[in-house]
Amino acid sequence: MDKQPNVDMPPNGHASAPAGPEMVERRYAQIVGWGYHVPEKVITNKDLEQIVDTNDEWIRSRTGIERRHVAANPKETTASLAVQAARNALAVADVPPSRVDLIICSTSSPQHIFPSTASVVQDALGASNAGAFDLSAACSGFVYALAMARGHILAGDAEYVLVLGAETLSRLVDWTDRNTCILFGDGAGAVLVAASNVPGGILATELGSDGSGADLLSLPAGGSAMPTSLETVSNGSHYIKMDGKAVFRFATRVMADATRKVLERAGLTVDDVDLVIPHQANQRIIQSSVLRQLKIPESKVVVNLQEYGNTSTASIPIALCEAIEKGLVEPGQNMVFVGFGAGLTWAACAIQWSVPVEKQEGSWWRGYQRQATYQAAAARSMWRRALRRVYSQVLPEERELSEK
Ligand code: ACO
Repeated sequence: MDKQPNVDMPPNGHASAPAGPEMVERRYAQIVGWGYHVPEKVITNKDLEQIVDTNDEWIRSRTGIERRHVAANPKETTASLAVQAARNALAVADVPPSRVDLIICSTSSPQHIFPSTASVVQDALGASNAGAFDLSAACSGFVYALAMARGHILAGDAEYVLVLGAETLSRLVDWTDRNTCILFGDGAGAVLVAASNVPGGILATELGSDGSGADLLSLPAGGSAMPTSLETVSNGSHYIKMDGKAVFRFATRVMADATRKVLERAGLTVDDVDLVIPHQANQRIIQSSVLRQLKIPESKVVVNLQEYGNTSTASIPIALCEAIEKGLVEPGQNMVFVGFGAGLTWAACAIQWSVPVEKQEGSWWRGYQRQATYQAAAARSMWRRALRRVYSQVLPEERELSEK
């Protein structure tokens, strides 16, 4: 294990810390904040026995899943989960929303086709200096988004990028289809990626796609190829369709390949890895790819799918947060995040965790200030909406005059 990046480490690894002359030129992309949020409502395997022809034993032995959290309250949406996760991540880093330059929300269950869920989150946070966009790469999306964040930071285009993985797939699942409804859960995870002069952070990324497998896992209706109609609703084309076996075979192959490739790119070997956070789809996929093919011991692999099911793009950041809570993450560790999903897509990133894992949250006063910031953001948003309504009722000539 390489413990090298502890040189001149600032309290939180952010770029604003004083840099020695030898470090001035280099920028690194460090994860300095993390948070997650899941809905309260839990559906157990036993509960599912009441809904479809399945049983607890089958679900546990074929997937490892025991329960999942589901957005049962209509007010819980992909954006509302993402906002909570984002607030937690910003609190950990003790960074105000106004300093965020970019928000990337990876999701396959966005609030709407447009506007982006990321823009809704940006407004709710009051991140008034941030660009915002959604990223669609299914369960691989969070790692894709990390790659984008790293690129923006290393290019010097951003100091802070908020990366979100958020899903409410329970709204897109056919609750009469036992092949799919047992698998998915809802939730959101967030990380704040910061420009830093501390060596390490996101070292390398590996992104892949094979669109020839697009039909293996898809949501056929609701896009421009098959707009929603009475027919699509009556034949259930607006629900997730999946060839589970084919996805399983694909996943076991790409998880191992992507991990090997990203490690090579980062100049590391499998033996250098201290922690793997794989996409939490199926315990057997993780066993077959990470444990058997890569021969990484179970103690180095984070698994929490028994509690959350497959939360798609949210699964890796939620697992990261839990790993940190359990004390599994330490500065100096080499980590791999690896995922696969619809597209078909796959993605891996190698990270040298170089910043402290203690929260920077600060005093109760900072907490109070944060709450006030979010209330002000809500008030500002309402004010802007009201102003827009008034403006739209004013005659164009008067508007021109008032704008002068
Ligand atoms: N309960 C009981 N029996 C079931 C259930 C169920 N929930 N689902 C299927 N079965 C039955 C099948 O009908 C079949 O019965 P049969 O032999 O009489 O025909 C039998 O169980 C075996 O079914 P298989 O599909 O062969 O089961 P398998 O072992 O492949 O497990 C599973 C199915 C869990 C879906 C597995 O294939 C899998 O996890 N695939 C990967 C899916 C995945 O990860 N998708 C998410 C990708 S990420 C993203 O982008 C969202």
